[in-house]
Amino acid sequence: MAPVISGFSKLSKEDKIKWLAEHHFNNDVTATDTLITYWNSDEQLQRLHDEFTENTISNYYLPFSVAPNFLINGERYTLPMTIEESSVVAAASKAAKFWQIRGGFSAQVISTTKVGQVHFSYMGSFEKLNQFFDTIKNTLITSVSHITKNMEKRGGGVREIELRSKTSEIDNYYQLHCTFETADAMGANFINSCLEQFAKTLISESQTYDGFTETERNIEIIMSILSNYVPECLVKASVSCAVNELPTKPELSSKQYATKFVRAVNIAEIEPYRAVTHNKGIMNGIDAVVLATGNDFRAIEAGAHAYASRNGKYSSLTHAEIKNDIFTFSIEIPLALGTVGGLTNLHPLVKLALQLLGKPNAKKLMEITAVAGLAQNFAAINSLITTGIQQGHMKMHLMNILNQFKATDSEKEQLIKYFKTNTVTHSDVVTQIEKLRQE
Ligand code: MEV
Repeated sequence: MAPVISGFSKLSKEDKIKWLAEHHFNNDVTATDTLITYWNSDEQLQRLHDEFTENTISNYYLPFSVAPNFLINGERYTLPMTIEESSVVAAASKAAKFWQIRGGFSAQVISTTKVGQVHFSYMGSFEKLNQFFDTIKNTLITSVSHITKNMEKRGGGVREIELRSKTSEIDNYYQLHCTFETADAMGANFINSCLEQFAKTLISESQTYDGFTETERNIEIIMSILSNYVPECLVKASVSCAVNELPTKPELSSKQYATKFVRAVNIAEIEPYRAVTHNKGIMNGIDAVVLATGNDFRAIEAGAHAYASRNGKYSSLTHAEIKNDIFTFSIEIPLALGTVGGLTNLHPLVKLALQLLGKPNAKKLMEITAVAGLAQNFAAINSLITTGIQQGHMKMHLMNILNQFKATDSEKEQLIKYFKTNTVTHSDVVTQIEKLRQE
């Protein structure tokens, strides 16, 4: 077991690696070499990455891929996608190509409001607290004017502060439930700074409020933090076409295809076990764009899954229907994204990703990202209701298996050719490699 170390963060990167080698890798040089191999030779760039987080000892690569041919609201996009899972980018590209000759994707932002809360305890009547709140509401808002000044110039700011009693669930528990607009920023720092100031103002104002007894004055702030549940930062995207424009398969007419597709989505609407996987597939596309554009994919994931459970039962984020022989497939998802601040101007690949998208504002990025999720879900359901998912997956996974066996270029070429007409299974790939190597 490694010994306890204090002051680890103060060690140089080299000394951190030395400590790891000694206490975790038995001084094996391959561990050290692996970490160093991934350092960037451009020292300035490496320093930039080192300083994103603490205790950085190396870089962790993920593929930076692109999916072309996305027609969204009449404009053509090539989507940047950062994801390690094979098939995702290929599936997105395939769906984009399919829909671009059928009118493309429509997308529209419904709302962009974000939420933050000051959670506090108060011993007294709600009526009195409410009176106090009414008298200090303006003071609360002006107390953050130094924080909101710039945001207001960009059209954002504090929209509302509401006092909420939660005493039916926890004794003496109240909230300032606050809503914000953050323009093109994701706005986490802005919101949290406002909330912390609201908390301070709440306390200072309570100290001089005549209407309170000593006990009532004793308000305790529990915490002040934004919420990643953003049901009012919502975007919708959809595709639609005549049923007879949908794929026909040897075993399915386009009408049967449409019916089966809608049924697959209906299953995800009512069956949580399926809905989680269905939505996971949606998030394959969404997270990939969110990561590539330097946004916080954990926040997006948390918000999306909470939204999927908003009616008390976890359900699908997408919906499909056939009406008057028109097939429509749509997504509705909360996406609190930013195109300024955070990593957007710092990480060279994030900057490039945003450039690739034509430097979108936050609303446009919400639309593009929702489309990535819808496209991914379309591709997944298309495979699931026809060939099954493994055919495409294993085709794409073939390269991973070949790399695992350190296949040479010529071995890869021969085996890719062989698996064009044979089902890819892990064991058959191994058999074929061994056979080649014996020859
Ligand atoms: C795999 O990463 C995602 C899928 O399982 C999604 C789905 O089942 O809809 C293919």
